[in-house]
Amino acid sequence: MLKRNMKCGEINDTVVGKSVIVNGWIQRKRNLGGLLFIDIRDRSGIVQIVIDPNAIGNDTFKNIEKIKLESVVGIKGTVRVRIAENPSLSTGKFEVLAEDYELFSPSEDLPFNPFSGQDVDETVRLRYRYLDMRKPEVREVFEMRARITQSVRNFLIEKGFIEVETPYLTKSTPEGARDFIVPSRVNKGKFYALPQSPQLFKQILMISGFEKYFQIARCFRDEDLRVDRQPEFTQIDIEMSFIEQEDIIKIIEEMYAKLFKEVGGVELTTPFPIMKYDEAKVRFGSDKPDTRFGMEIQDLTEHFKNCNIQFINNGIENGQKVLALFLPNGGKLSRSEIDSLKEEVKLNGANGFIDFKITNGELKSSFTKFLSDLEKASLLSAGNDDDLAMLFIVDSKKGYDLVGRVRLLLASKFKLIPEGRLNFLWVVDFPFFAYNEQEGRYEAEHHPFTMPKIEDLDKLETDKESVHAIAYDLVLNGSELGGGSIRIHTPELQKRVFNAIGLKEDESEARFGFLLKALRLGAPPHGGIAFGLDRLVWIMTKANSLRDVIAFPKTTSGICPLTDAPSAIYGKQLDELGIEVKNNGSNA
Ligand code: AMO
Repeated sequence: MLKRNMKCGEINDTVVGKSVIVNGWIQRKRNLGGLLFIDIRDRSGIVQIVIDPNAIGNDTFKNIEKIKLESVVGIKGTVRVRIAENPSLSTGKFEVLAEDYELFSPSEDLPFNPFSGQDVDETVRLRYRYLDMRKPEVREVFEMRARITQSVRNFLIEKGFIEVETPYLTKSTPEGARDFIVPSRVNKGKFYALPQSPQLFKQILMISGFEKYFQIARCFRDEDLRVDRQPEFTQIDIEMSFIEQEDIIKIIEEMYAKLFKEVGGVELTTPFPIMKYDEAKVRFGSDKPDTRFGMEIQDLTEHFKNCNIQFINNGIENGQKVLALFLPNGGKLSRSEIDSLKEEVKLNGANGFIDFKITNGELKSSFTKFLSDLEKASLLSAGNDDDLAMLFIVDSKKGYDLVGRVRLLLASKFKLIPEGRLNFLWVVDFPFFAYNEQEGRYEAEHHPFTMPKIEDLDKLETDKESVHAIAYDLVLNGSELGGGSIRIHTPELQKRVFNAIGLKEDESEARFGFLLKALRLGAPPHGGIAFGLDRLVWIMTKANSLRDVIAFPKTTSGICPLTDAPSAIYGKQLDELGIEVKNNGSNA
């Protein structure tokens, strides 16, 4: 084998006149005046090879000429200085005059050339992910991902955390999604669930006395995919004993400060701001507010109570709210631009808005004549000159989310988000329960192992809407990086909470008996947090999509284009598992 003794990107002036062997992929081939110029690429970079029939022989020249792009070769030759330098290559001053070659692996015609600069359909890119990954910019994302993981791992180990692997074949833990199920061959008719998170195992490790645990853990959730979700993803999963919320916050801020300094070269300002959930909802219409820009939601319901505009009046009487957004410079939009904005807002779920331009301290709108002086004054004082005031008459509960979504839409449409900001924010004091309208019952907003706020404990059974949790999320630029909570550490309270989310005593025992038992055998006060590693890498690398930071991701329909998983399984395998496929499945 013509085994390399130098990497392509490392050819430099110290080896001019010397014989070297390089190995790599043929990225480019040009035939110029009877000479063949080939760019060979390995991980370190690219070097130009010159194939001269006078140096290598006519037959060999012809053989090399036939080799297709992206074939893998070894080249032996002498390094010399190039006549015309190529400043875009680190080795651009040099070339290798080939004397011998070895074709390690010929490539067929490529389904696409990763270096052509052409847009390639994502499914095709993912089917041939290895071609896509040959691009240095794709590999760099994974190099950065590895550095992020390493920085986090080193930090946690230095702080005394123990890295523990917890099972993948396990019992379902509810985190709000469906489980991926794995049939058991030995125990026919029984199933494992792939973990949605290592939640209960990490709590049990606290009961084991480990005090500080972490894991870079793969999690699996069978949920409808969105841009920021994959069915399998990775968490930086952390749990600690004998701590309170503020201790978790402190150590995590330290972890991120170190990470961003080491990997991003950025000094973060700590402590990060903290905002209560209720405040985040009314100011930003979101539990993960993007605080890089203002345009906060304003509640003008009080000011419009006696409004002459009938549908506003009716709305308020029926418990609706008048929420306003003031779009900076929106007052300069033309009528047709505002109308098309209205349509876009409607498509995003809001039933349009009433608009007023604020121009030279006056309101301009067909509705102005219906407003009292007080109502006009309230609008003018809430906005600035040249703003477009938008009034949304909305449901008092869901309305904030809706206007929050419009706020984000406007920000991206009118480019209101300043570049280069890293706005970390803790959102705390989440509601404990969320009402599941489809199932007509309350469920835990985070998960049912979360500790309710002590002062709300007596409302667990009677006034669920006002119970808050000792739960916290870390948000970066409007994206939820992670979340956690202080946990329940007594079996009595755990049972009360199970009961409050509608789990009967026997169901709790059947599903979580092992946890309840462990809680009866000495459980320390404990709490933790988990971060989505993929989302973090996505933000830090500024990649286009979450899929771009996952080596072999699934498409939005849950398919791996590379392997074509999921796929059917057949006769013997099904028989062994005691499984019969009913619908759509082919059972040949
Ligand atoms: P949670 O469900 O909030 O908490 O998950 C923690 C973080 O994991 C990331 N994440 C995802 N990333 C990609 N694709 C998905 N489908 C996906 N789902 C979640 C998010 C999220 O913030 N056991 C608790 C943590 C704890 O209480 O300690 C948990 O899993 O970034």
